[in-house]
Amino acid sequence: MQFKITVNGKATTVDVPEDMPLLWVLRDVLHLNGTKYGCGIGQCGACTVHLNGRPARSCLTSIASAANAKVLTIEGLSADGSHPLQIAWKDVDVPQCGYCQAGQIMSAAALIATNSNPTDKDIDNALDGNLCRCGTYLRIRHAVHAAAKIKREGAKIKTAKTTTSGSAKK
Ligand code: FES
Ligand code: FES
Repeated sequence: MQFKITVNGKATTVDVPEDMPLLWVLRDVLHLNGTKYGCGIGQCGACTVHLNGRPARSCLTSIASAANAKVLTIEGLSADGSHPLQIAWKDVDVPQCGYCQAGQIMSAAALIATNSNPTDKDIDNALDGNLCRCGTYLRIRHAVHAAAKIKREGAKIKTAKTTTSGSAKK
């Protein structure tokens, strides 16, 4: 059966069984292997992507229920590693084995998209279902704070530039 989805801004059609999990479509059909398979039952968060802007477990999302949706995977976060979370993750050196990290970052991305100054509690709540068997939780929290700061300061820099160029034209 054919389904249309938009993945990382690119519209595509896949011909797969309607009950195929989105995770398999991403990994096996579209060859986007950044999204990981952990438990397959919605318990670990390794497979987290965004579905129409909200975090979703792609192992539990059938392609039929994702039809016509906009999907964002870790590969689509930025083209050049310039997303604040990517910068902060590198600065803080968060990963250990790395397996859970794409899911952690996608949950964090959904958080800082709507909350530019999250508290520890906000971060813990948003990433509650993302397990890390290497125990990188404290570094993750630190990196989310750092990313939110980068995002806030980036916005300030942009605003300042706009104001400066605006007054220069007068
Ligand atoms: S693989 Fe989807 S939640 Fe674990
Ligand atoms: S870094 Fe190894 S599972 Fe999280």
